Amino acid sequence: MKKESEILLQIRDLSVEYQTEDGIVKAVNGIDLNVGKGETVGLVGETGAGKTTVALSILRLIPDPPGRIVRGEILWKGKDLLKESIPEMQKIRGDHISMIFQDPMTALNPVHTIGEQIAESVILHQNLHKKEAEEAAKKTLELVGIPKERYFDYPHQFSGGMKQRVVIAIALACNPELLIADEPTTALDVTIQAQILEMMNQLKRDLGMSVIMITHDLGIVAEMCDRVAVVYAGQIVEWGTTRQVFKNTYHPYTLGLFGSLPDMKAADEQDFDERRLKPISGMMPDPTKLPDWCHFAERCPYRTDECEKDPIPLRDFGDGHLVRCRRCPVPGKEE
Ligand SMILES: Nc1ncnc2c1ncn2[C@@H]1O[C@H](COP(=O)(O)OP(=O)(O)O)[C@@H](O)[C@H]1O
Ligand SMILES: [Mg+2]
Repeated sequence: MKKESEILLQIRDLSVEYQTEDGIVKAVNGIDLNVGKGETVGLVGETGAGKTTVALSILRLIPDPPGRIVRGEILWKGKDLLKESIPEMQKIRGDHISMIFQDPMTALNPVHTIGEQIAESVILHQNLHKKEAEEAAKKTLELVGIPKERYFDYPHQFSGGMKQRVVIAIALACNPELLIADEPTTALDVTIQAQILEMMNQLKRDLGMSVIMITHDLGIVAEMCDRVAVVYAGQIVEWGTTRQVFKNTYHPYTLGLFGSLPDMKAADEQDFDERRLKPISGMMPDPTKLPDWCHFAERCPYRTDECEKDPIPLRDFGDGHLVRCRRCPVPGKEE
């Protein structure tokens, strides 16, 4: 992030639990995060890491019960959203922060035209009359690369990629300052995915909005994000600029995520076995029984007894590149 840029969103020590039959799921455990104006921040990690829970917390959409925000602050331009009234939150959701939900294909209503669905969002949030809302909706359609003549078409008349553009158009209709995109391209095939990401990058530049990009795909982080938080079992394990995290990867979990990407160099030069994906072995710990020490220890090839004693704090590995690992030696410091 450009250091001087204004911080829009600041999350402090966020912790969220879900009460389930199997016990209390500790989904988010003390997450700190900030997003600057015009900046794209990635949240990356495997399924169950707590990414969607962070996103829903920002909008105060955690289902309660079973969910409960147990601790923390979510400051939007300095005001704590966790203390806002319901009407105030509705205003924030409409006018300032919008979200593309995971599994967007189910987000469209099959019995209304796509135009009506975008216009509805405009009417709700911008207080426009029907005719003006229709114009605004048509403009938004064109923004996402759909001809305005298709305003009167129904969702079933669109392909998967086009439907996803419509879903993005609905999220953009209120001119958000922050867009939270929860795995927005996971359901699409690769070529369509690339088109959508390119479009989102363009929109970001044109509209100057901030984005929180949630994904399990480091390729998407590389393409979209200024900074990235690697999330594991409800904690950030590595945080920095995309460049810091990609160039000087420290945390064994992040290294493991990179290891799960196919190595194209190996693919060119070596035999088949070496270019196979190397997934991280083992599974995430049971979220109802998280250890008090390093959450990744169980799977970590570098763990020692020291790792299984106390909670591991994030440490600065230089210029704000934070890593939650006892084993990684901090450059320039004697351990
Ligand atoms: N409504 C819910 N009820 C109970 N547990 C939930 C609920 N939503 C999420 N969880 C649990 O919280 C943890 C984090 O989930 P989630 O935030 O969806 O992760 P991610 O988006 O990274 O896949 C998981 O263990 C998940 O099973
Ligand atoms: Mg999710």
